[in-house]
Amino acid sequence: MTYGQGEFGTRAEQPGGPARLAHFYDRLDSIAYGGDYNPEQWGPETHAEDAELMRVAGVNLATVGIFSWAKSEPAPGAYDFGWLDGHLDRLADAGVAVCLATMTASPPAWLARLHPETLPMTADGTRLHPGSRQHWCPSSPVFRQYATRLVEQLAKRYAGHPALALWHIGNEFGCHISRHCHCEVSTAAFRRWLRARYGTLDALNSAWSTDFWSQRYGDWEEIHTPRTAPSFRNPTQQLDYLRFSSDELLECYRAEKAVLDAVTPGVPVTTNFVPVAKTLDLFTWAREMDVVSYDSYPDPHDPDSVHEAAFSYDVMRGLRDGQPWLLMEQAPSAVNWRTRNGRKQPGRMRLDSWQAVAHGADSVLFFQWRQSRGGAEKFHSAMVPHGGPETRIFREATALGAELAAHPELLGSVPERAEAALLLDWPNWWALEQDAHPSADARMLDAAHAHHRPLYDASVPCDVVPVDRDWSAYKLLLVPNLYSVSQETADRLHTYVSSGGTLLMSYFSGITDEHDRVHLGGYPAPFRELLGLRVEEFEPLPEGGALRFGGGGEGTLWSEELALEGAAPILTYADGRPAATRNPYGTGHAWYLGTRPDPVTMRAILDRARLDAGIRAPDLPVGTQVRTRITADGRRVAIRLDHREGTVTVS
Ligand code: GLA
Repeated sequence: MTYGQGEFGTRAEQPGGPARLAHFYDRLDSIAYGGDYNPEQWGPETHAEDAELMRVAGVNLATVGIFSWAKSEPAPGAYDFGWLDGHLDRLADAGVAVCLATMTASPPAWLARLHPETLPMTADGTRLHPGSRQHWCPSSPVFRQYATRLVEQLAKRYAGHPALALWHIGNEFGCHISRHCHCEVSTAAFRRWLRARYGTLDALNSAWSTDFWSQRYGDWEEIHTPRTAPSFRNPTQQLDYLRFSSDELLECYRAEKAVLDAVTPGVPVTTNFVPVAKTLDLFTWAREMDVVSYDSYPDPHDPDSVHEAAFSYDVMRGLRDGQPWLLMEQAPSAVNWRTRNGRKQPGRMRLDSWQAVAHGADSVLFFQWRQSRGGAEKFHSAMVPHGGPETRIFREATALGAELAAHPELLGSVPERAEAALLLDWPNWWALEQDAHPSADARMLDAAHAHHRPLYDASVPCDVVPVDRDWSAYKLLLVPNLYSVSQETADRLHTYVSSGGTLLMSYFSGITDEHDRVHLGGYPAPFRELLGLRVEEFEPLPEGGALRFGGGGEGTLWSEELALEGAAPILTYADGRPAATRNPYGTGHAWYLGTRPDPVTMRAILDRARLDAGIRAPDLPVGTQVRTRITADGRRVAIRLDHREGTVTVS
C-alpha cells in the first residue's frame, strides 16, 4: 500500500516546516480529510462498513485511540494492543493514514482506585472523581509515570506501522482541569516552580507586593496555590499560578513527547488545542510542537461565530509564525454541550471547512467519524450520523471530501503573510482579567475580536503575533488592552513606531509590569511619550452604558480622561473631550482609543489607521472574503469565501 509517492516531500522545507513533517505530508495526496475514529465503540460489521464509507467519503486520515487507555491497559502493566492492530492494518490497507493518539487523556478507573492521589483537587479542596474524563492531576509523578509507560509501549508497537503519520499527545490539555489542581503534590510543585522563578523569598515578596494585607512570607512552605480565601487573593500569586498551570501541563506533554522522540524520532508530534484557550500560553506550547492542531466549534446560532472562527484560525497560523496548521476537530453539524445546540444549515460545513483551509489549515478533520450510540456525546453530530449514509450530513461530507481531493496543490501551501497584525500575549490576558479591577468588562478575547473585526469585514488579512516577535514586516500593529507589559516590550513598541510602523493601541494599556505592579509616572507610563498623552482617570461605564461622540456614534464599556501631550484628537465626545487620538512618533504614528467605539465607528477608525499604514482593502462585496496560499511551485491560490445568504450573482 502506498500513501502518495513523496510528490510533496519538499513541503516541509518551506518556511517554518520542521523537517520531520515530511513524514506526515508523504502519507497524504491532498488536504487531510477525516476525523476522530473510535472503533472500540463498535463491532466487526460496523468496522467493515466504516472501511467502505471512508472510501466513499474520501477519508485519508483518521485519528485513533484518543480514549483507549482502559482498553489498551485493562489492568496495571497488562498491555493489550491486539484489538488495535487490526484497525490500523485495515486503515493502512484502505490508504487511510493515522494520527495516533497516546491515549493518556482519560486514565482507566483502576488508576484512581490504586492511586487516589492522582485525582485533581479544586481550590476549595474538592477531589474530582473518575466517571467523565481528564481526571488527573498535572503534577502527579504517579500519573506521569503510568502515562509515559503506556506511551513507550504504544510507540514501540507501532513505530514502523505504515499507517502512522502523526502522533497526537493526550487530548485538549487544560480543557477540564486547567486550574483545578490544588492538592499537596501540586502545591509542592508550585513552590518548586516559584523557587526557580524567583530564587529568593525576598524577590518573591517584592514581586507579589506582600506588604499589602500582611501577606509577607518567611518560609517557602507557607506558600500555597491560590485556594479559596475570604476575599480577593493576591493578584500576582494568581498570575503566577496561571503561568505555573500552563507550564505544568506542558511538562506532561513534554514527558510524553520525550518518549516518542526517542522511539520514533522521524514521526512528527502534535496535540490539539481547545478554542483559543485562555489557560495555556499557546505561543510557548507551539514551540514544542511540529505542527499546531486546533479544535473549532463555532456556534451555528451565533452570527458572530463566523468571524470568531476566522480570528481563532489567524491565532493558530500565528503560533508557529505562519506555518500551516491542522483543523483537528470540528462538528459536521450540532455539538451536544451548549444549552441549545443548533445544527449547521446545509452548506455551512463546507463553508466552515474552506474557511479553515483559506486561513492556513492543512486538514479538515471532524469529531467524529461515526456518531456514538451511547455515552455523553451521543447527540453530537458525526460524519456518519445515527441515520447512516443516507443522510444529508453524510452526502455533504462525501461531496466535501471529493472537493478537497481535487486540490492537491493546497496541501502544505504557505498562507500569504498579512500586512497587519494583532498583538496577543497570554500573561497579559491573565493579568487583564483578574478580579478587583476598575471594570469586569475589560475582556481580552472580546477586545481582540473588536479590533480584528473591522479588518475582517474589509477582507483585509490580519496575522496574530506574540510580544517577542520582530514586528517590523507589518505596516499596522493592533494592540488591544496591553494592560500588563514589560519595559522591554514597551521599548520595542517605541522602536516599531519610530521606524515607520503604525500602531493602534486601546485603553487600559501600559498599566502594570510583568508582576502586576503599576508602572508609576502617570498612566500609561511606558507609553506616554509614544502616544503623546496621559490618562488622568479611568471611567468605566455602567452595564449597557454609552457616551455619545460629537459626530455621531458612541463609546461603550470604558472611557478615560485624556490629557493630550502632543497627540491630536481624532474623535471627541459630545462635550468636546478627546476619545481617540493620533500621535506622530519618529517616522510612524501611534493611534490610541480611550474607549470601545461602537462597531460602525470602530470600522471607520480602523479604515483610517489602515490607510495611514498604506494597507488597501480588496474590492469585494460585503460578506465575502479572499485569502491566499502559495503553493510549492510558487503559484498563488486565492480562496474566496461567500458568507452571504440567498442567491447571488458572481462574475
Ligand atoms: C472536544 C474533544 C472531543 C469531543 C468534542 C465534542 O473537542 O476533544 O473529544 O468531546 O469536544 O465537541
